[in-house]
Amino acid sequence: MNLIEDLKWRYACKRMNGTKVPQEKVNVILEAINLAPTSLGLGAFKVFIIENDELKNKIFEGACPQPQVKECSHLLVFATRTQITGRYLDSYFDLIDRKANPGKAWLEKYRGKIEQALKGHYEDLQAWLTHQVYIALGFACVAAAEQRVDSVPVEGFDKAKLDSILKLTEQGLASVVLLPLGYRDEDNDWNAKRNKVRKDPDRLFIELK
Ligand SMILES: Cc1cc2nc3c(=O)[nH]c(=O)nc-3n(C[C@H](O)[C@H](O)[C@H](O)COP(=O)(O)O)c2cc1C
Repeated sequence: MNLIEDLKWRYACKRMNGTKVPQEKVNVILEAINLAPTSLGLGAFKVFIIENDELKNKIFEGACPQPQVKECSHLLVFATRTQITGRYLDSYFDLIDRKANPGKAWLEKYRGKIEQALKGHYEDLQAWLTHQVYIALGFACVAAAEQRVDSVPVEGFDKAKLDSILKLTEQGLASVVLLPLGYRDEDNDWNAKRNKVRKDPDRLFIELK
């Protein structure tokens, strides 16, 4: 296996067959999400992992009538924080201290830098925080392909309704994107055997010399 083969194997899976994804494979995908970079290392999002059929059906009926939501094995819901509070920064700095132990002077300087950066992002805080989630989504898609687990990013859902079903607002969170994980239903998925539609490289890349 190599990366390009993995990426050619993956596609936006439109129908899944309900087969369970083994936990070891799910764990690899979750670890890849956790290893994704985020601006300033803030990692200001959460990922809900939903296996429960009743809850998946509720989301299908109430917020996202796309079949993969109920046919998948695990439904990942990526949700961003809606604010970066002083308390959140405290816990982030505790984490840096515990994991990397960079020393008090470094921590103070870095905190100042983050507080400054947050002021700069104040106007578009939600957009900026949301961008971070998409990087993790990309890592998850690649990891899933490497594990030969099918997936599909899903943005076509009613965010307000999903937030209400999962009570996200109360938790200071807002849903961004979904990622059903599972296995393709080859007989019913019109997208399973379609050729990839991608630009020729010369329409995408501009080499500056
Ligand atoms: C952020 C994002 C949101 C998407 N939302 C949906 C969606 O709601 N439903 C769906 O079936 N596919 C969705 N897609 C899949 C894209 O349509 C698909 O990735 C694109 O057409 C390229 O095809 P491929 O992934 O099969 O190579 C989404 C993809 C991305 C990256």
